Amino acid sequence: MRVLFVCLGNICRSPAAEAVFRAMAPDVAADSAGTGNWHVGEPPYAPMQRAAEARGYDLAPLRVRQFTGADFASFDLIIAMDADNVANIERLRPAGDETPVRLFTDYAPESGVSEVPDPYYTRDFDGTLTLIEACVRGLGAALNGAR
Ligand code: 4NP
Repeated sequence: MRVLFVCLGNICRSPAAEAVFRAMAPDVAADSAGTGNWHVGEPPYAPMQRAAEARGYDLAPLRVRQFTGADFASFDLIIAMDADNVANIERLRPAGDETPVRLFTDYAPESGVSEVPDPYYTRDFDGTLTLIEACVRGLGAALNGAR
């Protein structure tokens, strides 16, 4: 199983999701990417890194990369942070490819939200991590059930 987490910038939500997921499922291959290219090569956003560090997640080694159509072949499951991400991902899907693309919040229905709000704009980095942890727990349960 190979899981790819995708957001817009790859500096806040998807690198945090990758790190939280790696901590919970160290045996599953995981990566993250952004649909946009503004921050390619940069480390995650410093305020996001600090909020994650406070919960024991190290985002410092991660570097931004842009999502590409080749990712459909490289991953078994693509997880998007919001509906805009899904639309941008689907635009790059190769003909005939059937890799599932899911909203992260689908794994945390108890959260009552249908996307992971972008903390680059909300500035609620800690609340974002709380939601991401809930989504990762649900994803882990789903992957275990599918094993
Ligand atoms: P992310 O947040 O998608 O959670 O990484 C963003 C960070 C930066 C930008 C957009 C979203 N930006 O436009 O620079």
